[in-house]
Amino acid sequence: MTIESQLMRLGLFDARVPRYTSYPTAPNFSASVDEAAFGGWIDQIPPASQVSLYIHVPFCSRLCWFCACRTQGTRSAGPVRAYLDTLKEEIAQLGRRLPGGLRLARLHWGGGTPTLLSADMMRELADAIFAVLPLAENAEFSVEIDPNEIDAGRLDALAAAGMNRASIGVQDFDPEIQSVIGRIQSYEVTRDAAQMIRDRGIASLNADILFGLPHQTKERIADSVQKLLTLAPDRVALYGYAHVPWMAKRQQMIPSEALPTPEERLGLFETARRLFLWDNYHEIGIDHFARAGDGLEIAQRTGRLRRNFQGYTDDTSEVLIGLGASSISRFPGGYAQNLAATSEYTGRIREGRFATGRGHVFSEDDRLRARLIEALMCDFRIDAAEIRARFGIAEEKLKELFHTVASGFPDMIDLRSGGFAIPPHARPLTRMIARGFDAYDLSNAGHSSAI
Ligand SMILES: C[S@@+](CC[C@H](N)C(=O)[O-])C[C@H]1O[C@@H](n2cnc3c(N)ncnc32)[C@H](O)[C@@H]1O
Ligand code: SF4
Repeated sequence: MTIESQLMRLGLFDARVPRYTSYPTAPNFSASVDEAAFGGWIDQIPPASQVSLYIHVPFCSRLCWFCACRTQGTRSAGPVRAYLDTLKEEIAQLGRRLPGGLRLARLHWGGGTPTLLSADMMRELADAIFAVLPLAENAEFSVEIDPNEIDAGRLDALAAAGMNRASIGVQDFDPEIQSVIGRIQSYEVTRDAAQMIRDRGIASLNADILFGLPHQTKERIADSVQKLLTLAPDRVALYGYAHVPWMAKRQQMIPSEALPTPEERLGLFETARRLFLWDNYHEIGIDHFARAGDGLEIAQRTGRLRRNFQGYTDDTSEVLIGLGASSISRFPGGYAQNLAATSEYTGRIREGRFATGRGHVFSEDDRLRARLIEALMCDFRIDAAEIRARFGIAEEKLKELFHTVASGFPDMIDLRSGGFAIPPHARPLTRMIARGFDAYDLSNAGHSSAI
């Protein structure tokens, strides 16, 4: 039996599974976490420690049809100005509650399109943040940049504020694919954005590209990857296009009959993957590639790779605070998510309250399963000794759990020496195998294709 037919037999081409950027996944959050719980977790942050901060900007001046991100289109500055004022108020509120002496290990601006802010607005936002949470030494400050929505002035403002990692959205360079996914962006626009970023001495450039787009073929994705390689990004995210038109209504513009089959998706991923490996990129987790010496490559090599809402990270902070509409915070005690609708979020902040809408309080079982899933997503293996030492779980009980999950994937899991490892040929199944450790109901969560 070929590997492909084995993967098919195990359901890879039919399953819809979470991407496991959290455990439990966000659809399992509930109203059990409110603003009081959020405040309580803020109070428990040790003074003078390092935390990370995510800022969500849910606006774009163009709304790409393929996009499943939480964002809304706007052509005028009014809503953006109002949102920035709310964000500044939220930052100030947080500052009044935070213990003293905290510093930022990581700061990430995401969206939507944070570069939709004017240069002055960017300075205002950075000043508001640093007044409350200054960057630590060696901190990483990253920003998601739409190459169509950036210019010298805004990049100067970001560089002056301390941005040292830029992440650009590429998706695909093929003009026909760009037109059916509603995202027109010439190679020259992307190249010039990359050049402007480098000209300002920004240490690291990331790029997002997609496989599984309508009309994509192996030849076309190979061509896109080769074009991307001319820009020499330090890090690449090769995401599988998630087609979820029942959730992201704008995807109804995408012709589903032009989408590749799941088998073809696997071929597209493999084609792109091989090109990155030939160009000496290191494979990181299920969908990232990084140059030797990049933070993710070092983290993977040294066993410190982690996964959070932004994907793979080398951030080991215990606390990640998410501000802005729909942002999720992670504390040692659990997750807290802000209200998703911008109007509701704004209303709460204007009342002088935190905007928490829902979340999840970790049980001991959640912590164990979260670590098992994270270890698989990051390292494709679980170290039984580490798990037993950390969670005090009995050897027999852990073995039984491993055997139960492995029995769903015959010949695909290596249980030798008491651990749990996914060998290279079975790696396309990683999210499905991780789901085996998930104790929650995933039936109505609208997840994306397993490959
Ligand atoms: C917030 S966007 C990027 C920032 C900026 N707005 C831009 O478009 O360049 C983050 C990334 O999510 C990915 N993304 C969005 N919708 C997706 C989907 N339906 N499936 C897979 N990835 C998606 C894209 O690769 C995109 O670059
Ligand atoms: S891909 Fe980027 S620019 Fe396009 S809609 Fe999504 S967040 Fe906005």
